[in-house]
Amino acid sequence: MKLKAQFVYGVVLAMVFACCLSATAGEAKIVSPDTESGVTSEAVPSAQLKGSEEKTDSKQEAEETVDTGAQPPESGGEDLEPPEKAPDVVYVPTPHEVVKKMLEMAEIKKGDVVYDLGCGDGRIVVAAAKKYKVKAVGFDIDPKRIKESLANVKSNKVEHLVTIKKADIFTLDLREATVVTLYLLPQLNVRLMPQLKKLKPGSRIVSHAFDMRGAKPVQVYKVKVKDEDYEYYESEHIVYKWVVPWEKEEPKPEIEEYWSPVESELVPVTN
Ligand SMILES: C[S@@+](CC[C@H](N)C(=O)[O-])C[C@H]1O[C@@H](n2cnc3c(N)ncnc32)[C@H](O)[C@@H]1O
Repeated sequence: MKLKAQFVYGVVLAMVFACCLSATAGEAKIVSPDTESGVTSEAVPSAQLKGSEEKTDSKQEAEETVDTGAQPPESGGEDLEPPEKAPDVVYVPTPHEVVKKMLEMAEIKKGDVVYDLGCGDGRIVVAAAKKYKVKAVGFDIDPKRIKESLANVKSNKVEHLVTIKKADIFTLDLREATVVTLYLLPQLNVRLMPQLKKLKPGSRIVSHAFDMRGAKPVQVYKVKVKDEDYEYYESEHIVYKWVVPWEKEEPKPEIEEYWSPVESELVPVTN
């Protein structure tokens, strides 16, 4: 009897241990931008990309420069401080194919300086440095994203070109940049316009998915990306490009979304 109880206890213990293991296996993974995978643990589908409700008027203190050569902390991020201000948009990585197209559209040349505002895992700045050998700076407000970016920079050995900074993008002076990349939200792009207007003439702004109301893009591309897991599924990504100073565009009326409630109907079945 005692032996049987011990056996049951052992089985339960093994099951709990197996569950813990599989939970950790699903945690964030940093990979090179060339490998087409990415940080997946926190990513949510684009459909869920929406602004945080939490807003604050208080300005972020002076931006904090992070030495990209620094060794990232060893643990999984649980020890990180929460962001001082809630991010204005959740983290969703741009697929690597789209990053490639964004950088192509930006027509990056020697001497350019690329800023990614809300850099996530740093894939855009890392890709810019690797492919075009230019300086790039990634800004994010979330310490977890900063940690992932630093690890990405390090594993791709581009510390000499890429800097990662923890900062609120709405407090930045962008004038050093000649290329700015965005994957935020339409209203956040508009909120950035006073800062973007101060960029040097000829600077390029490239935005994944979202336009900038009132500014006429010079180029709009649709990028189709094949899903890694489902052969027949592909997602479409729009990329917008502006050159500073941009041409004004009569703002189009905002399209309001309307979701028709679908009601199920019970139909009596008679034999
Ligand atoms: C949709 S993700 C884009 C990530 C990356 N640029 C890419 O395309 O893969 C937006 C990022 O912006 C960051 N973010 C949101 N609000 C911010 C703010 N006010 N200042 C700095 N970063 C912010 C989020 O933490 C998130 O990593």
